[in-house]
Amino acid sequence: MKTWWKEAVVYQVYWRSFYDTDGDGFGDLEGVIAKLDYLKELGVDVIWLNPCYESPDVDNGYDISDYYSIMEKAGDMETWERLLEEVHNRGMKLIMDLVVNHTSDQHPWFLESKSSKDHPKRDWYIWKDPRDGKEPNNWRSYFAPSAWEYDEQTNQYYMHSFAVEQPDLNWENKEVRHAIYDMMRYWLDKGIDGFRMDVINLLAKVDGFPDAKKPADLQYLGNNPGIHEYLQEMNREVLCHYDVMTVGEIPFVTPEDGALYVGEDRHELHTLFHFEVADDMPSWNMKQFKDIQTRWYEGLKGKGTNSQFLNNHDHTRQVTRYGNDGTYREESAKLLATMIHTLPGIPYIYQGEEIGMTGVRFDSIDDYHDIAMKNKYKEEVEKGRNPKEVFKDLLPLTRDNSRTPVQWNATEHGGFTTGKPWMKVNPNYTTINVEENLKEPHSVLHYYQQLIRLRKEHPVMVYGEYNDLSIDDDAVYAYTRKNQDTCWLIVLNHADHESRFHCPEELLTEEPHLLLANYQDVTEKERMEDLVLRPYEARIYQL
Ligand code: NOJ
Repeated sequence: MKTWWKEAVVYQVYWRSFYDTDGDGFGDLEGVIAKLDYLKELGVDVIWLNPCYESPDVDNGYDISDYYSIMEKAGDMETWERLLEEVHNRGMKLIMDLVVNHTSDQHPWFLESKSSKDHPKRDWYIWKDPRDGKEPNNWRSYFAPSAWEYDEQTNQYYMHSFAVEQPDLNWENKEVRHAIYDMMRYWLDKGIDGFRMDVINLLAKVDGFPDAKKPADLQYLGNNPGIHEYLQEMNREVLCHYDVMTVGEIPFVTPEDGALYVGEDRHELHTLFHFEVADDMPSWNMKQFKDIQTRWYEGLKGKGTNSQFLNNHDHTRQVTRYGNDGTYREESAKLLATMIHTLPGIPYIYQGEEIGMTGVRFDSIDDYHDIAMKNKYKEEVEKGRNPKEVFKDLLPLTRDNSRTPVQWNATEHGGFTTGKPWMKVNPNYTTINVEENLKEPHSVLHYYQQLIRLRKEHPVMVYGEYNDLSIDDDAVYAYTRKNQDTCWLIVLNHADHESRFHCPEELLTEEPHLLLANYQDVTEKERMEDLVLRPYEARIYQL
């Protein structure tokens, strides 16, 4: 069935690094409002705003202490309401981050729960007795060596899948679930257009909390029995009453399980982020990537909708990780964009990606802020490892690679702030910035604009069947998208050298029409039987 959210292009705003209007060094909601015309020009339909609720901010807003108010750094409720209005005035939509696997340890619910064993809210979180005087089991958490933290006052441990400061809510408790549903209605009634749901498949925990065979792999934290009942209840109670979009962040999921979360007959979520690329493919691997695309396409075909992304605020910038951020930065940024926007699924753009922003290499651990990186650094150094080596090992994938401020122009701090930025700006802002991109007709930014426009004009890009031509070449990726009256051929040379592409005979047509290419001098007359593709060349043909 055709729906608006399947056709949407989503742009992710990590507001603290987006644009600062009051000079405190943090981006803010006023800054998002200031740049809405820019986003509209780019062509995006939906803005996903990272958490801006009140929070002690140990995990950049993913530790919420009040679901009903706005963090001071971001602004206030009046500004947020104006943001929503201004987004809607421009015909765009706004989805908010929903973080309900855990709260902050400063949330009044947790403070009450912690206060005594027989407090009525004790059961709102997950408390367990010590086992032989130690942690209740051997589970790790994402950001700490153990998923358990001891509370001396009540002699019990509480569970945290992330940092010690992010205790997990107990979803088995009906009052918890209904408190969350009330909160969701509060935001939906204000008029938001949906939610991006943080680690939503972690809500249900393994029955009995048994030891894990492989504590390091963390898979036991997700996809446990009960999760689909929770999501169906959430849908019944809240979501089905609104015309909104929901995208679940769902690690450790196979396409078969993915269909259970987003199958249209299941009434849970609309679409999901799986992490077979961002988590499981540290650097570009053509074979692996093609395999992932085929399996997910087959797995969700006729059932539900996938999402396409290569980076976000948790993952190193795509041009650095999966492209070439040196000689072929612009070409490879455009190639990756071509791929994401023409593969089946909803495309997401992470702020700054549209100008080909790159990852960073700062000199010292003190230049970094990411709690995942900081805690891991501490953990490894405490084990006796050489700090310099640990630091070096953490650099390629630290989340801060994508969290440096957006580079708006070539003035100090990339025009992000007039104050001292909360996080250093990537020094390449003097050459890579929005202003330059706007001036240059063949910039990465203008290429994104063209790609997005194509999506609006050609339903085949959204609804067309996908067919991988299975070219046996580590560099060339070629596939078609097809509906009743249109067939597109997408050809990508994912390498810093030339490659040849021989178009299969059945696809050869008299006049293939070139719709878009990332090199300017491509002629329509080229012989499709034997194309010579330049480094990171990308082309979209209508056959
Ligand atoms: C996933 C979010 O994207 C990440 O930034 C956060 O640290 C964890 N969930 C915990 O909320």
